[in-house]
Amino acid sequence: MSIAHGIRAVGVLGAGQMGTGIALVSALRAKIPVLLHDRSAEQVKKGLSLVDKLLAKDVSKGRLTNEQANEAKDRISVIGPETGIKGFRDVDMVIEAVSENLSLKQSIFSSFAAELRPETILATNTSSISITKIAASAIPNGVNPASDEGKKSASRVVGLHFFNPVPVMKLVELISALQTSEETLERARAFAIASGKEVTVSKDVPGFVSNALLIPFINEGTATREDIDTTLKLGMNHPMGPLQLANSIRGTRDSKYRPSILLERMVDAQWYGRKNGKGFYEYKD
Ligand code: 3HC
Repeated sequence: MSIAHGIRAVGVLGAGQMGTGIALVSALRAKIPVLLHDRSAEQVKKGLSLVDKLLAKDVSKGRLTNEQANEAKDRISVIGPETGIKGFRDVDMVIEAVSENLSLKQSIFSSFAAELRPETILATNTSSISITKIAASAIPNGVNPASDEGKKSASRVVGLHFFNPVPVMKLVELISALQTSEETLERARAFAIASGKEVTVSKDVPGFVSNALLIPFINEGTATREDIDTTLKLGMNHPMGPLQLANSIRGTRDSKYRPSILLERMVDAQWYGRKNGKGFYEYKD
């Protein structure tokens, strides 16, 4: 087992597209045990069947042997709802990949601080929420954030931003909160590299590097949806047009990246893109 990155086992919270992808690359590339937890048993079932499907595809394409695929699958265990996040007690790092909701994330990180060992690295896969705000909640109740204990507890929080689809996309953006220690950053970096990713480091600014650069493409509205997407695909070799992509992602809430009126109106109309079938385009699946 590779433990060069000092992470001997990882916990993943959230078995959606992102969490499942993160669990898969951790098991397959970093080759470490993965504990997967989601409050929805249905979501876990879907996640595990996606893992099976992706591993089977790699076997059928000759990239993995049956044995390698089975070993990777066997490294993933599920923590049931009766145990909850207490099941992460023995891992060296947890990666939170739940929906983009600040108060949900704050309550999760506060539970992490209460339930897990003080040296466990606490990573978040957020694409749009301040890591510093999340880190501020990773402090045991009643502890002053400016005390040595408070600073130490928050110093193990880091942003570990994977891209969708995780097994395919080669980048992980690492984000340092104001409180993050150098050691946390380096261990998280080593883990991402062991998981087969290239790493860039961003400051804790709205959108980090990736979405800060992406959002202007989505927001400009200078032509028809097809012409904007075709311009970026054929003129700049983007694999997917930005408006196609916009139908699958969530943006940041910072005023510098205020959504265009059209985007606001689409949300008012409850057209959420791929999520419910209508956005810049229509989706039948
Ligand atoms: N999960 C895992 N693998 C997937 C997948 C998924 N959801 N979707 C596609 N793939 C794999 C396919 O299995 C295939 O693998 P193979 O080479 O082993 O057969 C490979 O990707 C290529 O798939 P296809 O040939 O079917 O289709 P495409 O050529 O259209 O490629 C794509 C699919 C790679 C997803 C391509 O459309 C693409 O690069 N899209 C842009 C993705 C992107 O920009 N992601 C970033 C989103 S922003 C983000 O995540 C940040 C967030 O914070 C907002």
